[in-house]
Parts: sequence; C-alpha cells; structure tokens
Amino acid sequence: MMALILIGGEGTRLRPFTCDYPKPLLPVVNRPFLEYQLENLKRQGVRDVALCTAYKPSLFHRMLGNGKRLGMRLSYAHETRPLGTGGAVKNAHKLLKGTVLILNGDVLHNLDVRAFLAFHRKSRAELSISLTRVKDPTLYGSVVTDASGRIQRFLEKPSWDEITTNTINAGAYLFEPSVFERIPPGIPYSLERALFPHMLEEGARLFAFVSRGYWMDIGTVEKYLQVHLDALAGEAPVRLPARRRGICAERGAKLGRHVEIDAVKGLLVLGQRARVADYARFSGRVCVGPDCVIGRGASLEDCVVLSGARIGDGASLRRCVVGPDCRVGAHALLSEGAALAGGSKVGAYCQL
Ligand code: GDD
Ligand code: MG
Repeated sequence: MMALILIGGEGTRLRPFTCDYPKPLLPVVNRPFLEYQLENLKRQGVRDVALCTAYKPSLFHRMLGNGKRLGMRLSYAHETRPLGTGGAVKNAHKLLKGTVLILNGDVLHNLDVRAFLAFHRKSRAELSISLTRVKDPTLYGSVVTDASGRIQRFLEKPSWDEITTNTINAGAYLFEPSVFERIPPGIPYSLERALFPHMLEEGARLFAFVSRGYWMDIGTVEKYLQVHLDALAGEAPVRLPARRRGICAERGAKLGRHVEIDAVKGLLVLGQRARVADYARFSGRVCVGPDCVIGRGASLEDCVVLSGARIGDGASLRRCVVGPDCRVGAHALLSEGAALAGGSKVGAYCQL
C-alpha cells in the first residue's frame, strides 16, 4: 500500500519556529519530526510515500531527498499555491494507486496500519478515518459514529455547544480510489470542511477506527514542548539515544564537572557536540540540540534548546523553547511559555 503525507501547511500556530522550518521538519528530540512518521510506516511495510508540499518545499528535498537514507521511496507533489488538504490530495493523485493511507504531517502517533486496513476492508468502507480521544475537541475535527463505527457526522473545529463526543479526527485516513474522483481538480478544497461532510450527505460509507496509544498534534508551541516532555518520559513513540545516569548523550557531547541531573525522575538529552559547563543544573526533562553551549551554573527545567543556541552563565530556563542559534545572556531568566525565534538575543539579566 502507498501512503501520502500532507506537509504543506505554514504552521502559523507554531511560529516563530516555523518561520525557518516547515512544521514536519522541526526537530523533535533532535531529529526532523517527519522521520518518526516515516519510520512508523516503514516498520509496518509501507515504503512508498508521496509528500504533498506547498510551504518551503526545497527544505524537504534537501533533508529527505528520495528517501534512500531512510530505506524508503519518497516522491513529491508540489502545489504552487496551497490547495488545502483536499486539493493537495487531488494534486498528488497521479503518484498513487490502489487503497491509499493519507496522513497529516504534524501528528505523532503509533498508528497500527495493518489493523486500520483490516478494519477498513471489513467495514467495506469507501473512506475510513482514524480517531483519538482528546480533552478539547474544539481544536480538531469532531467525529460522531454509530455503534458499528459508521460515521454520522464530521464537524471541523466545532464550538463547545456543538460537541457531543470527545472522539476526534486523528489525521489518518484510508481512501479507496473512488474518493479521489470526488475531489475537484486544481482548486483549493478541504477534506474536513467539504469532502467528508459532502460524502456523508450523499450516504457514502465512511467508517471510524478508534486508535489507541500515544497521539499528539505538534501544531502549537505548547504541544511542541509537550511532545518533547512525553518523549523524554518514554511515553511517546520516539527512540532515544542510549541512556546512562539520566543522560542520553549523542556523539561528541561534553559535560563539565559537578553538573547536577535529576537522574531519578528526569532525563537530559544532549545533541551532537553540545557542551555543558561546570555546575549547570538540569531538572525534569531537558532536550539540548546539537552544537549548543550551556553556561556555567545555568539552570534548566523541562525545556527544549534547539541547535547552536548558547545559554549564558547562571541563566535560568523553565518550560520554554529556545530557537536555533539564540544567544541568552548571563543570568537571564526565561519563564514558562517563552518561545525565542531562531537567532534571537536576550541580554544579560533580562527576564521573559
Ligand atoms: N500540501 C498541503 N497543502 N498540505 C496542507 C495544506 C495545503 O494547503 N494545508 C494544510 N496542510 C497540511 C499541514 O501541513 C498538516 O500536516 C495537515 O495538512 C493538517 O493541517 P493543520 O493546519 O495542521 O490542521 P489542524 O491541525 O488544524 O486540523 C487537522 O488535523 C487535526 C488532527 O491533528 C484536521 O484534519 C482536523 O480534523 C484534525 O482533527
Ligand atoms: Mg495540525
């Protein structure tokens, strides 16, 4: 079976980080996010993947190429203007054949592809949607089903008074070839706001498969941080480098003397060539990117520092994300929710 991944969104809710990188290429525990999705597919025998690009396409070509490095075959369908989720799928139609697995490119989950396909076949569905349960369905596509799993209603970003269930569209679909014929070519079109509701009105066979296990859309800064915290807690499907006394250090990473680490509850990931000076303190789960420098006596708790950033001596960071190549001055304080755009400079003693 072939898969198609939607990776053309601008990721506006994940700015400032998506100003430099499209969301699917942002590092998650120091690897481009999309690689986790691709690996999950490969593990389950899906090696042919079409990628639908619109925003910053050249970066995908540069970082993933034809997929050989990952042992996969990647092809690309580019939109010169964004065609929306439905238009993008239609635009890639020529690259596909048979039943196709379609995925949103900004979701981390451990979808069981075989179980999903078996369910789809057994239901004789024209289109199946994988569901997950969340606390706040207003941020997603709400999906109501009957007892057999047949979808009754699909409502994208409903208001609280429209909600009758906490099951939402997890961003994974199986399409029979006939579905592609239902999408108009060459114009912006939405799967969620047009195709799914229209198919339901016409009485088409749409079925929902409730997927268990980890699920997270990394679409906001808060969730981008959370996915790291979950990964470092071993709760997300992310393979970590080898761990020793609370540290996963990649090649060339160096740790100074008297560095404090919460080896019982926490974990520190150090990317390649990252350097940590003496007396730095880490608590909770902290991910430091390649080539970063953490200053003497700096204190970091539950945060993400992206590649090449330098954190000054005695600086203090808590539940925040520092973009690539930032400079955080000595004794500066970054508190919960701070999100520094790549290349930002924070002066000594500043508080954010
Ligand atoms: N090629 C292309 N072109 N891709 C696009 C376009 C486009 O014009 N617009 C969005 N995408 C891609 C995004 O890159 C992302 O991977 C995926 O389509 C979904 O877009 P988001 O912008 O992330 O949508 P969302 O998170 O608000 O909602 C969607 O995902 C939820 C699950 O995370 C919907 O599918 C919801 O129904 C769903 O619950
Ligand atoms: Mg999303």
